[in-house]
Amino acid sequence: MDRIQFDFNNAMTTMVGAHGFSAKEIADADGMLKNAIDALKTKPLGFRKLPKGQAAVVDDIIQTAAAVREKCDTFVVLGIGGSALGPIAVEQALMDGQGSMKLIVEDNVDPERLARVFGGLDLKKTMFNVITKSGRTSETMSQMMYAASAIEKAGLALKDHMIATTDEKNGELVKILQKEGLKSFVIPSDVGGRFSELTPVGLLPAAVCGHDISAMLEGAAYMDELCTREAGNPAALYALLHVLGMKKGFNISVMLPYADSIKYMSDWYAQLWAESLGKRYGNDGNEVFAGQTPVKALGVTDQHSQIQLYTEGPFDKIVTFLKVDKFRNDLVIPKALEYIDAISFLCDKTFGQLLEAERSATEYALCKAGRPNMTIALSQVNAYTVGALLYFFEMATAYAGEMLAINAFDQPGVEEGKIATFALMGKAGFEEKKAELNSRPAKDAALIIE
Ligand code: PA5
Repeated sequence: MDRIQFDFNNAMTTMVGAHGFSAKEIADADGMLKNAIDALKTKPLGFRKLPKGQAAVVDDIIQTAAAVREKCDTFVVLGIGGSALGPIAVEQALMDGQGSMKLIVEDNVDPERLARVFGGLDLKKTMFNVITKSGRTSETMSQMMYAASAIEKAGLALKDHMIATTDEKNGELVKILQKEGLKSFVIPSDVGGRFSELTPVGLLPAAVCGHDISAMLEGAAYMDELCTREAGNPAALYALLHVLGMKKGFNISVMLPYADSIKYMSDWYAQLWAESLGKRYGNDGNEVFAGQTPVKALGVTDQHSQIQLYTEGPFDKIVTFLKVDKFRNDLVIPKALEYIDAISFLCDKTFGQLLEAERSATEYALCKAGRPNMTIALSQVNAYTVGALLYFFEMATAYAGEMLAINAFDQPGVEEGKIATFALMGKAGFEEKKAELNSRPAKDAALIIE
């Protein structure tokens, strides 16, 4: 049976000594845990309606995906942040290498990269999906303008090659899609960008790539049950350990998947955790400067890059291993060159066994060095467990926001940058911000070295 298991043995003093969490510490924080669980019971959080409340949307997505697959072989998402990281993570997790659809997610405005991507497209067989909740993000709008112009130059109709995913009413994209007659999907107004992977933001690209989006939602619904219960609530406990950790100086949350298929889950988690919890003000209006820096790493690759720091550097990290119990494919290390004794022990073992041995060895090394860590195990990687994993982290983030008494659902720091970009690029209505930017102190030439 598909399941996800959360094991936090190695976060405890019994396993890692003084830097771990004692049973008393956890028991003393029971009130905080219970309050957070109670608070989420009544808070109207939009993302919680997604696992079970989208039957009509799912039907529309499945039909649209089938139509796209009939005439296109490339699906290009134009989006950034919460409008891009989920589709990237899910495609990496679920692609089986056999799919006929190529997914490209353009989440940057680097001109060299854009030129390379557009230069390689057969526009007649390409569908663009512009995704932006606000409907006005400069990066996404500029990419859309570039795509629209390329489609027009190729003598094609925009409405046959572009789908829009945005807010129902707000933003510029909604005006464009109405004028151009684009097929569109709505991001519910109460679901923020980084919590939107289980809306059409993530479901449409996944369905176009042939993945079972109903199973993703079923996995999320299963996780919702686990993550709302009073006792043994994995997301609330994950949040509690991290929040208690922040108080002990663990300012870094390392996400360490041991499977390439889930490596971009770390990127998606990094945005979710950083943007949701990194807040200047608490709910009471006082300055709190909350947050924990997410670091993305990959097993085994980063064993030869970062693990030295994790085992011997400062005690400022909590590590989460992501583990897969059963790989979809495994390979045997053959009996080749086994006349060298020092490598012959590898013969007839599988690469999956080696990867798990490496993970287990790293877990052991971290424990021996007194470093708190925990493991989230997926029975295997499929649409169901991926949906469940995404939802687990969304719930954990919501719980951590409650425990920290901050608003996990806004992003004023991001908005400031977006507005400054409008001003710098000369958007009407942002003249005051432009003047503010121009009034910055001039840079000292002596501090610039050539
Ligand atoms: O989580 C968020 O709200 C942000 O990271 C957004 O996803 C990101 O800024 C992109 O915004 P939009 O979807 O409005 O273009």
